[in-house]
Amino acid sequence: MIKDQIETLRRELEQHNYNYYVLSAPTISDIEFDLKLKELQKLEDENPEFFDPHSPTQRVGSDITGAFKQVSHVYPMLSLGNTYSESEVQDFYDRVRRGLNEDFELVCELKYDGTSISLTYENGVLLRAVTRGDGDKGDDVTNNVKTIRSIPLRLHGNYPPSFEIRGEILMPWSVFDALNREREEQEEPLFANPRNAASGTLKLQNSKMVASRKLDGYFYHLLGDNLPSNTHTGNLDEARSWGFKISDAIKICKSIEDVFQFIHYWDVERKNLPVATDGIVLKVNSLAQQRSLGFTAKSPRWAISYKFQAESALTRLNSVSFQVGRTGAVTPVANLDPVLLSGTTVKRASLHNADIIEGLDLHIGDMVFVEKGGEIIPKITAVDKDARIMIGDKVQFIKKCPECGADLIRFEGEAAHYCPNENACPPQIKGKIEHFVSRKAMNIDGLGSETVNLLYQNDLLHNIADIYELKIPDLIRLERMGTKSAYNIQAGFEKSKEVPFERVVFSLGIRFVGETIAKKLAYAFKTIEALEKATLEELVSVDEIGERIAQSVVLYFKDPINIDTVTRLKSVGLQMSLSEEKLQSHGTALSGLSIVISGTFSRHSRDEYKTLIERNGGKNVGSVSSKTSFILAGENMGPEKLKKAESLGVKLVDENTFLDMIIAVVPSEDEVENS
Ligand code: IVH
Repeated sequence: MIKDQIETLRRELEQHNYNYYVLSAPTISDIEFDLKLKELQKLEDENPEFFDPHSPTQRVGSDITGAFKQVSHVYPMLSLGNTYSESEVQDFYDRVRRGLNEDFELVCELKYDGTSISLTYENGVLLRAVTRGDGDKGDDVTNNVKTIRSIPLRLHGNYPPSFEIRGEILMPWSVFDALNREREEQEEPLFANPRNAASGTLKLQNSKMVASRKLDGYFYHLLGDNLPSNTHTGNLDEARSWGFKISDAIKICKSIEDVFQFIHYWDVERKNLPVATDGIVLKVNSLAQQRSLGFTAKSPRWAISYKFQAESALTRLNSVSFQVGRTGAVTPVANLDPVLLSGTTVKRASLHNADIIEGLDLHIGDMVFVEKGGEIIPKITAVDKDARIMIGDKVQFIKKCPECGADLIRFEGEAAHYCPNENACPPQIKGKIEHFVSRKAMNIDGLGSETVNLLYQNDLLHNIADIYELKIPDLIRLERMGTKSAYNIQAGFEKSKEVPFERVVFSLGIRFVGETIAKKLAYAFKTIEALEKATLEELVSVDEIGERIAQSVVLYFKDPINIDTVTRLKSVGLQMSLSEEKLQSHGTALSGLSIVISGTFSRHSRDEYKTLIERNGGKNVGSVSSKTSFILAGENMGPEKLKKAESLGVKLVDENTFLDMIIAVVPSEDEVENS
């Protein structure tokens, strides 16, 4: 009975996952899905004898760490021969025609630019997921792959008892952009492109973190002894019917003209796809013909790739500067002769890190190729070595901080260099102060970066705690500072003493502790004393706090200078513990949900509802999409929103129902304003 109930729920949730992540056509709202998932989780917890590693509840990942097991591929994972011009494509076509000496079809597909994966299914369940590795053996990343919602854990329809399917794991552009924005805010090194981000994510030792990165998977190659069709496209059609995400951008071509047409169409249209592509793959459709053409040592003779040309420009490298950020991360930047690239003038390009500089074998004065290839920051892809007349100095990554002279360090497993001299390196000191006074932190108006710089140069400000010792005359003495502004700044200091504890934690500028993490820490430890004393184990046991963040927190509170800073901040009266009200009102009822507020309300204001959503772990978003969990709907909701909600099947929740769902301690006015 219970078993049936569990199985029905599992089947239902699998279908909804498929509708949402593969078909992009959900039939229930996220909140309904979540409720069902919670129900299943509860039944499974209560009845552990029915545990199933392929249950939809197993997609959330775990933070258990461990090195990956190496697994041999049953069929080696080969690469494809690359071509870069239409004449090379024509050559491939001619080679195939000569090799087969009979009619044939070519299949054109998009070449997805992610990281390849091989999945093994037995009796309809996902058994193993292995990376390409060296082609013969790769890493077993099954637990990480299980968190990818578009990958079926259990198949439907008429599938063979055992087979492998290969495809590409991708990070959609939207996820990539958001991830990099977040990393930029934390001054963590950015991912150069979605491919690196996807492969980096897949190799994370914490599948919970993988789950949060929202990867996707597209599949393009079925392998096994008993395949359902004797054509490649026939097999892909079957695989689609079992639940795999197979692209629709596939065309069977009977002539080379058809192939060129596909190439021309997608060279433009690919810019509108949600994921990165870098070319076209051409494959002979008939499996018998594939066998007859066979393989070379490295790649099949029956397939080839055509790479799209990234827009690139050639220019001169004049110098390399090294910038030190708030957290001490050192970024190398190439200064270039200005050059026009995809409609904008490029003068600077990121060199990312020491490995990239080394790999390029860069010398000052080199003519370099810059590309934008859909990525945010232009990058140098190659050096035109033939253009070297006189060879300049080799670009070396600096060993000492350009700002304070400290020896740079490099954390294990990280590509970036850091200046460790946190409390005495000028850009780090000034950066920390600017961060401290910024709007999302202590929100002290009037202290812009110029003023901070002047105060620093006048020896009045070395540390965030010094801020509260600044006196009106200190301020007035500064260039361009009026009496009124000085009094306003002073008032800002006073007002900042009301800023809630979670934002004080954020303001400290602990490396890797952004706004959200600061909130989690504040709610988990409740007082600065408890946070100071927290051990690594205690820290990692908090949801979303990984080893790296935990270590950074421990390190911060180990430093006597930081302890002194915190003590001084406490003594001037900053909030160093969670307010009584918040201690009681924090809930998780809405965790993971995206909620849109629309209309007018009678019991609380819109802003109060906004705070309540956040307090209970939810996210308040502006516009309705298929990702919206529900709409908190008041009177006179906008007709556009209503229409959109109806067409997407997003549920409306009225204010009374909403208040029943959460722990509703109404926030004070000040908290509403500050949240
Ligand atoms: S077929 C034996 N199809 O490109 C042929 N590969 O350079 C197996 N890739 O390792 C590959 N999109 O990671 C194939 N539609 C597609 C592809 C594709 C991307 C990647 C894949 C492979 C690499 C080959």
